[in-house]
Amino acid sequence: MSVLTIDAGTTGVTALIVSENGTVLARGYHEFGQHYPQTGWVEHVPEEIWQATLAACQEALDATGTTPTCVGITNQRETAVLWNRARGNSPRRAIVWQDRRTAGICTELRDEGHESRVTDVTGLRLDPYFTATKLTWVKRNDRRAWSGVESGDVVVGTVDSYIVSRLTNGARHVTDASNASRTLLYDIRTRQWSPEMCELFGVPASALPEVVPSYGRVGETDPDVFLGLRIPISGIAGDQQAAMFGQTCYQPGSSKCTYGTGSFVLLNTGTEVVEPKHGLLSTVLWQHPDGATEYALEGSIFVTGAAVQWLRDGLGLIDRAPQSEALAASVSDSAGVVFVPALTGLGAPDWDPQARGAVFGITRGTGRAHLARATLEAIAFEVRDVAEAMANASGKQLPELRVDGGAAGNNLLCQIQSNQLSVSVARPVVQETTALGAAFLAGLGTGVWESTEELARTWQLDRRFEPGQRDDTAYRRWRAAVERSKGWADL
Ligand code: G3P
Repeated sequence: MSVLTIDAGTTGVTALIVSENGTVLARGYHEFGQHYPQTGWVEHVPEEIWQATLAACQEALDATGTTPTCVGITNQRETAVLWNRARGNSPRRAIVWQDRRTAGICTELRDEGHESRVTDVTGLRLDPYFTATKLTWVKRNDRRAWSGVESGDVVVGTVDSYIVSRLTNGARHVTDASNASRTLLYDIRTRQWSPEMCELFGVPASALPEVVPSYGRVGETDPDVFLGLRIPISGIAGDQQAAMFGQTCYQPGSSKCTYGTGSFVLLNTGTEVVEPKHGLLSTVLWQHPDGATEYALEGSIFVTGAAVQWLRDGLGLIDRAPQSEALAASVSDSAGVVFVPALTGLGAPDWDPQARGAVFGITRGTGRAHLARATLEAIAFEVRDVAEAMANASGKQLPELRVDGGAAGNNLLCQIQSNQLSVSVARPVVQETTALGAAFLAGLGTGVWESTEELARTWQLDRRFEPGQRDDTAYRRWRAAVERSKGWADL
């Protein structure tokens, strides 16, 4: 038995075929375009996401020649997608989670005094990051697309819903509770769409997907549109929640950090919704088929791996992202250089959509290696910021941090991370934990695996990094630099 898993990320779609013992049998990957029509705007063409999904799945299936038992889906979260309910085509591009165009709408709602109520109901905050204000923007600025929503022909959702709709040829319009909890429209305690939030953001509840548990059968793929396959869709989760599942962080108190475009630190808080203080979010981790729901505290950092990409693509300092390790290791420290990678504003814990990237402390002796080192240090400092916020919000120190995602392969980063957190950093053998988690959910939903205990036994350590000397002076400089980067886009 094997499971197909689709990880529809921000820059591309990964498909994996995962075996019963949790190993990756085959892989496919396909990128899609990033569109930046204006400063701070980021858009995707939904059809390109779907075509990348088909191409990635075909590549993985061709490599094994087996028919998987079921399919699981995980996805970039919060991105707002609109599509025709019956035909699947989209009246406009999707507005991506990184898009900052709704900063003004957030300020307006905050000035009207809505923020604390929004946080009470949703566990989130008024920030352009989340789905709802993106839909408010479409309603105000794209009447043509929105008229379809009002007439009922066009539906709205996140990328998981869009992919399920395409996989089922329009038969199912669903999302799981973890994705719903990122929209600003979902009441995380009653576990239903909130009529109050729908009213506040001007989104008709009739256009929203049905919220389903994170695993269990929710439909089946239509072979006419999906590579000749008719298999159950039995797992759905937002990518960070799926990474928690793949890291087998099933116990309250367990935590992980995924280093992707950004980095997302999640702490399992069990069945309890912990008040999201200190710039953190409270979010649904997953919902079981019986409706029982587990939650997490989350620290969402927008730019980490993307900062390394900027060294590569923006500055040409390196040819490939992994080269950042050797370059940074060629100096013993950053010689006082601090890089604040607020390239799309700041997320947790500072939350400033108007902050912009900045480099401080440059001297005539500064070279490319110092900037590379400052970039890895920045990632570690950003994670320390949210880990300290978590310790304050939960009253407990993290016992260890499990890491995954592309940059988790960077040994120097893992060591600096462990030093800065003063806890051990554990890296598993399989670092594509997001896709693995969606496979685990789908397989749990169809009986490939019987229990989370069985899944927890598949987790295997690749390497553990123990904390060494921590450089608190550098961290103090970092905090001073973050403060100076704030509000820059307003000047
Ligand atoms: O919340 C945004 C997150 O889901 C995006 O993840 O891995 O596509 O950068 P990633």
